[in-house]
Amino acid sequence: ENHILGNLPLYGKKVMITAGPTYEAIDPVRFIGNHSSGKMGFELAKTAANLGAEVILISGPTNQLLQHSAVNINHVISAQDMYEQAHTHFKDVNIAICAAAVADYRPKEVALQKIKKDDNTLNIELEKTKDILASLGAIKTDQFLVGFALETNNELEHAKGKLKRKNLNLIVLNSLNDKGAGFKSDTNKVTLINADENITEFVLKSKADVAQDIFNEILNRLHA
Ligand code: CTP
Ligand code: CA
Repeated sequence: ENHILGNLPLYGKKVMITAGPTYEAIDPVRFIGNHSSGKMGFELAKTAANLGAEVILISGPTNQLLQHSAVNINHVISAQDMYEQAHTHFKDVNIAICAAAVADYRPKEVALQKIKKDDNTLNIELEKTKDILASLGAIKTDQFLVGFALETNNELEHAKGKLKRKNLNLIVLNSLNDKGAGFKSDTNKVTLINADENITEFVLKSKADVAQDIFNEILNRLHA
């Protein structure tokens, strides 16, 4: 056994992370997606691995690359794929972080052939996807469960609502109001709210540093 690794704070722990967007098929050549880069989730995976954890990273389509012997990347496309992979691994992990920007809706029917241009308008009926994070919160035993909240208004109130409703130990509120924060950028401005509703607001910083702040809070909570 490696006695240097053994000194790391997450040594022997398993961490699951969801990252990136999901793509919901409309027809064989089109999908509904979003601008999530996957950067935050990949930074979290790297940070967890560097803290000694074994990491399963379930990622939607992104350009992110990560080579780390302790990180297993599981590539998925749709919210349904991500849901199934998350549930396959959740029971074996100590910490789960849902950082993915999962599509809230998907086309109710996927056309088997490319949809041809016809009328001036086209309606596509959408149905809700499964909420992966909420479904994990509903079955959680002793896992430490972390979610994100992307809000543009009544931020704290909405984030606290998600923390409670989804049965989380910690929620990371992403402020989109600040320039340099959010989907495509390398920086983020976050506020952490834990299950006791202790609120910690952080300054704008790199996503790598935000990942470190999140794991500092997780480690404090695990040892509390
Ligand atoms: N999430 C998820 N599965 C979904 C939707 C969201 O796992 N189908 C997770 C996200 O990964 C994130 C958290 O739920 O950790 C909150 O996502 P967010 O989009 O902010 O909230 P929603 O609950 O989807 O509500 P809304 O978009 O209406 O604010
Ligand atoms: Ca959403």
